[in-house]
Amino acid sequence: PASTAEFPHGDLAVGGVPLAEIADRFGTPVYVLDEAEVRDRCRTYRDAFPDAEVLYAAKAFLCRAMAHWMDEEGLGLDVCSAGELELAVTTGFPAERIVLHGNAKSPRDLETALRLGVGRIVIDSPSEIARLAAAVGPDGHQKVMVRVVPGISAGGHEKIRTGTEDQKFGLSIADGYAQHAIARILDQPQLELTGLHCHLGSQITSVKPYLVAVRRIVGLMSRLYEQHGLVLPELDLGGGHGIAYRPGEDALDLTALARKVRAELVDACGTAGLTVPRLIIEPGRAIVGPAGIALYRVLSVKHTGDRVFVAVDGGMSDNPRPALYGVRYAPRLVGRHSTAAPSPVTVVGRHCEAGDVLAERADLPEDIHPGDLLAVPVAGAYHLSMASGYNLVGRPPVAAVRDGTARLLVRRESLEDIRSRDVGL
Ligand code: LLP
Repeated sequence: PASTAEFPHGDLAVGGVPLAEIADRFGTPVYVLDEAEVRDRCRTYRDAFPDAEVLYAAKAFLCRAMAHWMDEEGLGLDVCSAGELELAVTTGFPAERIVLHGNAKSPRDLETALRLGVGRIVIDSPSEIARLAAAVGPDGHQKVMVRVVPGISAGGHEKIRTGTEDQKFGLSIADGYAQHAIARILDQPQLELTGLHCHLGSQITSVKPYLVAVRRIVGLMSRLYEQHGLVLPELDLGGGHGIAYRPGEDALDLTALARKVRAELVDACGTAGLTVPRLIIEPGRAIVGPAGIALYRVLSVKHTGDRVFVAVDGGMSDNPRPALYGVRYAPRLVGRHSTAAPSPVTVVGRHCEAGDVLAERADLPEDIHPGDLLAVPVAGAYHLSMASGYNLVGRPPVAAVRDGTARLLVRRESLEDIRSRDVGL
């Protein structure tokens, strides 16, 4: 079993609240967010990157409390839809500290961004330029960045690599599409180009790709200066900072990242004779992932052939990551102490698919039985934000823990919620 030292949480209590108590109070499955851990992670970023603007990538997980915590911790927000944007702003998050992303922004996304006064919009395709300029109007003004493709392969899985040429995001530097789009933006007086953006991918555990990205983007900035006399004050390196999901896995070293990126930026700009732009970063997973725990109740234990299947009351509808990326988690028994020997089991969800597997060869006590409680650590990012309505089981609630108390942030999706959307017969 995982040792407590390898996880940021104690074995049985998180934020001073026993996990079994949370399960009893809110039911299972339930997601638990450790508020202090989220805030600590924000502070770690602020300390490691004192000169940079840190934007929390809301796609990892957003609710009103998260937006509020980010505001209090002095972070900005990266959003990619009118929904994320509106939720944050109606919570009181200052719109000027929000950046809007998206490879296919809908008319509603752009209209909402302009109406609420979003700080910057990241241009991701040529057609967006005219559309945005028209929406802003001749007398309006909007700050924009351009998402460029630096041609770098990095990230934990093929589906989350976005720095390479052959994927849907951004505009290629190598093929000249980025340069072309920039020239068109410069022709639009109502659009103010503040910088270049790239996002290499997600779950990256090495600093190296970020340094290559800095070199390539500064190279482009230098050519833009020569051609257009353009000085871009911002360089957004995106997010993607990898975390450990299971004991023994690597995480990206944030201190090393900060130090080396800074040195590379200063060096590259020095060589090119450019003023060093302000760095922007957009971590999502590394802020909220390790601060979240999923709690499930065991519903059945079944022996088949060589395997023991332990099935829980949640699964791919609240955490699609195993099915999408083949990742595996390290669940642990909580709420009771067992002296039984650990034995490798397969932990599966309740959904009607054989691929609904949370963990393989998870060492759980061999007396594991229905009614037991399992905690899945590192469940804060890209679980509930990617939750689906599959099998109509309803989405789990989110509870926050802090200083020995738990409170509900997001309630469970009820059958009534599901039924109320179904308006035809
Ligand atoms: N900035 C941009 C423009 C992004 O597209 C993303 C993530 C981030 C920042 C934050 O990346 P992070 O620091 O969280 O790695 N569902 C996948 C991850 C998809 C990431 C999408 N973009 C997963 O569960 O692994």
